[in-house]
Amino acid sequence: MRLGLPFLLALPFLLGPAAGDWGDLETLSPDPSPSSFPSYDFSPGFSSGSGSSSVSQSFSNFTGSKDDRGTCQCSITLPDTTFPVERVERLEYTAHILSEKFKIELSKVKEYVHLISVYEKKLVNLTVRVEIMEKDTIQYSELDFELIKIEVKEMQKLIIRLKESFVGSSEIVDQLEVEIRNLTLVVEKLETLDKNNVLSIRREIVALKDRLKECEASKSEMVPATPPPPAPGSCSHGGVVNVSRPAVVQLNWQGFSYKYGAWGRDYSPQHPGTGLYWVAPLNTDGRYLEYYRLYNTLDDLLLYKHAQHYRIAYGQGSGTAVYNNNMYVNWYNTGNIAKVNLSTNKVAVTETLPNAAYNNRFSYANVAWQDIDFAVDENGLWVIYSTEANTGNMVISKLNDTSLVVLNTWYTKQYKPSVSNAFMVCGVLYATRTLSTRTEEIFYYYDTNTGKEGRLEIAMHKMQENVHSINYHPFDHKLYVYNDGYLLNYDVIFKREPQQDV
Ligand SMILES: *[C@@H]1O[C@H](CO)[C@@H](O)[C@H](O)[C@H]1NC(C)=O
Ligand SMILES: *[C@@H]1O[C@H](CO)[C@@H](O)[C@H](O)[C@H]1NC(C)=O
Ligand SMILES: *[C@@H]1O[C@H](CO)[C@@H](O)[C@H](O)[C@H]1NC(C)=O
Ligand SMILES: *[C@@H]1O[C@H](CO)[C@@H](O)[C@H](O)[C@H]1NC(C)=O
Ligand SMILES: *[C@@H]1O[C@H](CO)[C@@H](O)[C@H](O)[C@H]1NC(C)=O
Ligand SMILES: *[C@@H]1O[C@H](CO)[C@@H](O)[C@H](O)[C@H]1NC(C)=O
Repeated sequence: MRLGLPFLLALPFLLGPAAGDWGDLETLSPDPSPSSFPSYDFSPGFSSGSGSSSVSQSFSNFTGSKDDRGTCQCSITLPDTTFPVERVERLEYTAHILSEKFKIELSKVKEYVHLISVYEKKLVNLTVRVEIMEKDTIQYSELDFELIKIEVKEMQKLIIRLKESFVGSSEIVDQLEVEIRNLTLVVEKLETLDKNNVLSIRREIVALKDRLKECEASKSEMVPATPPPPAPGSCSHGGVVNVSRPAVVQLNWQGFSYKYGAWGRDYSPQHPGTGLYWVAPLNTDGRYLEYYRLYNTLDDLLLYKHAQHYRIAYGQGSGTAVYNNNMYVNWYNTGNIAKVNLSTNKVAVTETLPNAAYNNRFSYANVAWQDIDFAVDENGLWVIYSTEANTGNMVISKLNDTSLVVLNTWYTKQYKPSVSNAFMVCGVLYATRTLSTRTEEIFYYYDTNTGKEGRLEIAMHKMQENVHSINYHPFDHKLYVYNDGYLLNYDVIFKREPQQDV
């Protein structure tokens, strides 16, 4: 290839004088010396090209002489009688073709040299990435593998094209090919050496997610079958008809041995959805309420973090409820009820609950020290207790949550010690009893709106044997249940029709 260029440069010089006026050669002679033989160097590259040697010879046969006037005469005899115009033209044409081909080849070479350098960089990059993956078996992902495999494949394709273009062989291309093959092997090996099963775990996670989505889809398909829930805080429904299976939120923050207690979420009609969560396990004697914790969010509660920890001396039993940022408790060893401001942890008001039995006189079945049980619903603060006058049957009082003064009282025919717990929803008291170690039943209701009472059969699954407290949240439509140290909650399902025949 290299020979082509000087050859082509020489050719026009050669052809020019050949086709032109030979007589001009006379004037080319600068040397006036009569004795010296004029030497004409036709072309500096002339003799160096082997392809032009035959042409050179054709013009070497000439003679020179000086005439009597001292003018140098020179004559050239061409070897053929006719100048080989055709041959030169063919030569010219061939040279042109060759020149074009050369230009194409040259540009190809330039292109491939560029591509090779790009792919060399890519190869280095890939090698670095594979090395990183080899070192760190956790960080890489399936996507990393896929990307590298795709890039390697692309490069393999290019190398094959390169090889086809370079007829014969090129060391660089061969070397690149080997390196790419090597890279492919390394990536494949890496994949099989996936010791941590990262890829299979990721695939499983994807499969699980898909199943989860299916579940959600089927769940949402079921939704039309159940009545649309009433608006939070609204009582435009026909009462409680069912509860969901319990969700175990967690073990209380004191641990497994703190089997007695209560938990729930503050409800305030002004800020219904923003109440903080409270957890109040009794001391292990099952009587003293001394420590409680508040959490701004359920996530904090779940993670046991950002808890506000407080002590009071002392509440009694697990009948505690929280309403409007105040905690309501039965004060220790008395028939008194107290209101604790949760912002200050100070007892704001203490009142005697008139005629209330206390100190285990009429507590709940299987639950001691809960003669006085507070409840919160859409209408406000309630207290459920018993009196001697009502022969141990449940008494329901509506309280002024500011002053703790009793606003109104209802007397039921349900004996309180045979009830395991109770809660209020829209002015209706719901009472539970124990059916078995795994099932509780909402079996009784008393509607303070109508004075009606009656039977229900709503099963409540539980995790542990004893339900120590149930607190209803009007906005969440959930029951917060303290079950032998575990915090559970249940979704409450309401009857669709407005209240009439509960
Ligand atoms: C030069 O030309 C003469 C006739 O003019 C011829 O006899 C001779 O052979 C030629 N020499 C060469 C080297 O061609
Ligand atoms: C090398 O790979 C990294 C990603 O790992 C990429 O950000 C970077 O642009 C690549 N460099 C070249 C020259 O391809
Ligand atoms: C393949 O790559 C590995 C690691 O970079 C190297 O040790 C080995 O010599 C390479 N093999 C070939 C055939 O290039
Ligand atoms: C009540 O809810 C439970 C748990 O979701 C469910 O298994 C049961 O079929 C429901 N009962 C009625 C009568 O809807
Ligand atoms: C609780 O106490 C704080 C500080 O004294 C007071 O600003 C707030 O109004 C009280 N909250 C209630 C509900 O009484
Ligand atoms: C509750 O008590 C407070 C303070 O005594 C009083 O201002 C308020 O009117 C009472 N509310 C009701 C509904 O009786």
